[in-house]
Amino acid sequence: MASISVFGIGKLGLPLAASLANKGYQVIGVDLNQNVIQAVNEGRSPHYEPGLAELIKSARGHLSATEDYHYALQNSDISFIVVPTPSEPDGSFSTRYVEISAEQIATSLKDRHNFHVVVLTSTVLPGATEGVVKPLLEKISGRKCGEDFGLCYNPEFIALGSVIRDFTHPDVVLIGESDSKSGELLAEIYRNVCENEPPIVRTTIYNAELAKISLNALITMKITFANTIAEICERMPGGDVDTVSRMLGFDSRIGRKYLSGGLAYGGPCFPRDNKAFASFARRVGCQARLSLATDEVNQEQVERIVRLIEQELDGVKDKNIAILGLTYKPNTDVVEESAPVKIASSLKQKGARVSVYDPAGMGNAKLALGERIKYAGSVEECLTDAQLCILATPWEEFKKLKPEDFTTRMKKPVLLDCWRLYNRSEFSKKLEYMAIGLGPRC
Ligand SMILES: NC(=O)c1ccc[n+]([C@@H]2O[C@H](COP(=O)([O-])OP(=O)(O)OC[C@H]3O[C@@H](n4cnc5c(N)ncnc54)[C@H](O)[C@@H]3O)[C@@H](O)[C@H]2O)c1
Repeated sequence: MASISVFGIGKLGLPLAASLANKGYQVIGVDLNQNVIQAVNEGRSPHYEPGLAELIKSARGHLSATEDYHYALQNSDISFIVVPTPSEPDGSFSTRYVEISAEQIATSLKDRHNFHVVVLTSTVLPGATEGVVKPLLEKISGRKCGEDFGLCYNPEFIALGSVIRDFTHPDVVLIGESDSKSGELLAEIYRNVCENEPPIVRTTIYNAELAKISLNALITMKITFANTIAEICERMPGGDVDTVSRMLGFDSRIGRKYLSGGLAYGGPCFPRDNKAFASFARRVGCQARLSLATDEVNQEQVERIVRLIEQELDGVKDKNIAILGLTYKPNTDVVEESAPVKIASSLKQKGARVSVYDPAGMGNAKLALGERIKYAGSVEECLTDAQLCILATPWEEFKKLKPEDFTTRMKKPVLLDCWRLYNRSEFSKKLEYMAIGLGPRC
């Protein structure tokens, strides 16, 4: 079995490393962050991700972490690069961390004489793997790509909160390859790791790079279209976004996923991948007008929710508003580009007294929102004395709430249910129930 090194054991790299180790590969994670290295070597998870702690524990003996990239390279046949690629002001991705990893790998490749495969997994713009990574590897190592070492671009289509399942049960595996030997080696790893026999698409590196950002750009359009249907439904007597989306989802050309209709999309991938798609299109002389419009409509969603609340409360200054859920989706602690955090920030700026609660994202939310927010330790504390509650992230914990949980603690129980978690008939009897995507009752 091949030995593997993973450069960057963050939110994506560590679940990937632990999943490979659990399938019997000897995996060495390379990172700069001492806390991450120490946690992995002690068999703990440094990240919030369902199932990751258990996976790391059961991978002991197969998974280790180090700062020593030279050691990792000398003890592996394949290296994955999964380091950050931060967004630049024009929407493109920076490759500065990828370049550091590539330089480190190339320095070690100089001393190696057997074939090594370098796999770039970080999200990059088309052209980066062959235009930036390959020349660096060749120049520093003095070796030739496709002959002395192989190079693949292999993006992951995972979602935070279900990374481990998504990695072992992907809809598709995408491999952009410099040569067929490298592509085959990587495909073999996926055949061992995947539990669902997915199609494995092997293509040029350029096509794989474009496919990765195109997919996320397309999903953001789908989400945004559903959000527009939700807004239309709110203006129609009896309008119901779930009924409309369900119908659309039956059509095999469309499918049901990402058509819920609710708050704006967020997180570390969708917003920036969509902007990167538009940026890349511009670079090659095309206008990705759909992507630009998607981004614009998505940003307007936050203002739309704030306007709705202002109308309902006749202004928000000095009003007590509770927000349940801060992460951009359930089962993660990530609040990056999260609609609930943007709503909280806007309400705070307009003078509202905002109290918030999230099952996992409070630490990150504090960093994002700072002072003048009440960080509650429970749903009950968050709701106490509130005049309006926004159910902003559909966590399991919130699905169990009953009308009484709101009415007994809130000053004036108005609930804005952004994901239609609750039964409207039941809740409307006890409190003022508003929902995104539902029109007035006929
Ligand atoms: N998180 C996701 O949901 C997701 C999904 C698909 C693609 N991606 C892409 O994967 C890449 C990594 O994302 P992430 O979310 O895991 O980032 P992250 O910030 O969670 O983790 C990156 C890790 O790389 C480490 N690192 C930085 N420079 C390094 C270096 N020179 N050598 C070794 N380690 C280094 C950091 O210390 C950190 O632990 C990005 O390009 C991202 O766009 C992420």
